[in-house]
Amino acid sequence: MQTVRQIDDLRKTLDVFRGEGARLAFVPTMGALHDGHMALVETAKRAGTRVIVSIFVNPIQFGPNEDLAKYPRREQADSRMLANAGVDLLWMPSAETMYPEGFATGVRVSGVSELLDGAHRPGHFDGVATVVSKLFNQIRPDVAVFGEKDWQQLQVIRRMVADLDMGIDILGVPTQREDDGLALSSRNAYLMPEDRVRAIALPRALGAAAKVITEGGDRESALAQARETLTAAGFELDYVALADAESLGAPIEGNPMRLLAAARIGGTRLIDNIPVL
Ligand code: PAF
Repeated sequence: MQTVRQIDDLRKTLDVFRGEGARLAFVPTMGALHDGHMALVETAKRAGTRVIVSIFVNPIQFGPNEDLAKYPRREQADSRMLANAGVDLLWMPSAETMYPEGFATGVRVSGVSELLDGAHRPGHFDGVATVVSKLFNQIRPDVAVFGEKDWQQLQVIRRMVADLDMGIDILGVPTQREDDGLALSSRNAYLMPEDRVRAIALPRALGAAAKVITEGGDRESALAQARETLTAAGFELDYVALADAESLGAPIEGNPMRLLAAARIGGTRLIDNIPVL
């Protein structure tokens, strides 16, 4: 695996790949890799002939009181995992390379960015859309792979790629979970042992609510029950919501729906979501 940190080196390597007629599959990450990321890499390997992974902890998608400074950084371990997985190229730009002095451009996807996590983390999806557009322009992949754990992010990216005619296939990979159901996340590393135990209430509450709704039960009572379960388990809720799976707005009869939640336990903010059929 080649590791590059400068744009010129990135371009040279990508030119070689393109010269071979490669189909470029790209997985953007912020590092602190776990099996969830490795599932994205496996999907990328099936979707393309050369796999490129980026590691960049994107400062502009963190709010002022969020965890940018303490976000886990494990460059060497990440790099070993990617090399062992057969990744061809690791792109690890610095913040100065991504946002040089005078950087003044932002990408904003209205509508889908403004609800749920967008409402609770103002500017977050603008930061995501901006960095992902920049990464897409740097790499110009044929296909890019994102986790469904960040469901709203996936919908923001799909909207952006369609609206801006980026011509990149966007693949979503189902959430990878621990044996007890907790969604894999780099932020799980922040959980104290007792909070880790209580955190399983999140997937369980969503699963129970989804079952009630799927079986035709009352939606509002199912959501209220999930909120009550989570609060009783010690979570502070941002939201538990049933939404249209694509727009994240109110459910539209006949369209796929998604049940999503964001909540804090012991100061760690966790998100999760599941389909409601
Ligand atoms: O999902 C993430 O890890 C990040 O939001 C992404 C897509 C790499 C952009 O910084």
